[in-house]
Amino acid sequence: MKLERKYPQKRAFVTGAASGFGLAICMRLASRGWKLLIADINETRLTQAEAQLRGCGAEVVSVVLDVTRPEALEQAADTVRRLWGGIDLVFNNAGIASAGAIDDLSLEEWEKVIDVDLWSVIYGCRAFVPMLKAQRGGCIVNTASSAGTLAGPEMASYNVAKAGVVSLSETLRSELSGFGIHVTVVCPTVFVTSLGDSLKSGRAMERRLVAQLNKSRVTAEHIADDVLAAVENGRLYVMTQSDAKWGWRIKRWMPETYSTLIAYLYRNRKWLYADQA
Ligand code: NAI
Repeated sequence: MKLERKYPQKRAFVTGAASGFGLAICMRLASRGWKLLIADINETRLTQAEAQLRGCGAEVVSVVLDVTRPEALEQAADTVRRLWGGIDLVFNNAGIASAGAIDDLSLEEWEKVIDVDLWSVIYGCRAFVPMLKAQRGGCIVNTASSAGTLAGPEMASYNVAKAGVVSLSETLRSELSGFGIHVTVVCPTVFVTSLGDSLKSGRAMERRLVAQLNKSRVTAEHIADDVLAAVENGRLYVMTQSDAKWGWRIKRWMPETYSTLIAYLYRNRKWLYADQA
């Protein structure tokens, strides 16, 4: 069913809305007449995003918040209730990247990525589910990553966080279905955004990941179009790129073969993100 027929009140909340995929989804929704509550930790970029969205004629309210604080998401839900009396789409999208070997990543790095990439999604779901249940409808879109389904080497902290988001979304898909609430989980491989800015340690794996991010021909707009189609069609998984789709299928069909293959590629420096030098 067409998105706006499903959700005629057209109300959306988006975290990580100041950049990349979050901004792209807001631009798409703005052009279709949606009202937006946009949230991000980066005030400067958020102000620019708000101006850009207003320029498209959208009704936008922005809030600077840190998604690692549960009370910030609770307050966002209160704001939505006060402004619009309900919500149609909730995008738990804000995130950072992380890369490095298990004995190289510090515990602080682990804690940070689990906080920003996993706990934030849990907080977002907990804050908005009571409202969605009360109105008996709406959709939660959680941004994971194919990192959460494919488990590539030297990305343990990010993989663990994103696998948690996939599992949470799969669980809620069934748990909330009786309330008319739909759940979608976004699992892309790399696409061009500012995500690489969050990689600051200078380790080799980070540099290789940033190089892959920058040379990707897939844009945030491609992902946004796929996500809106998935929400429209009630699909759980969004896997835009063919490596995301095929890697996941092969892993599910032949898990031992898949992990043996990845280990072989990595050991022999044939893995996409391996040091080729
Ligand atoms: P981006 O860096 O362009 O956008 C992420 C936004 O999240 C930024 O505006 C940033 O300020 C915000 N943010 C970061 N920490 C925050 C916090 N504590 N509180 C509030 N906002 C915070 O990157 P992108 O790529 O658009 O990232 C969006 C999501 O997509 C992330 O969850 C990322 O992990 C995921 N993803 C991205 C991929 C890529 O190749 N770009 C691939 C797979 C998943």
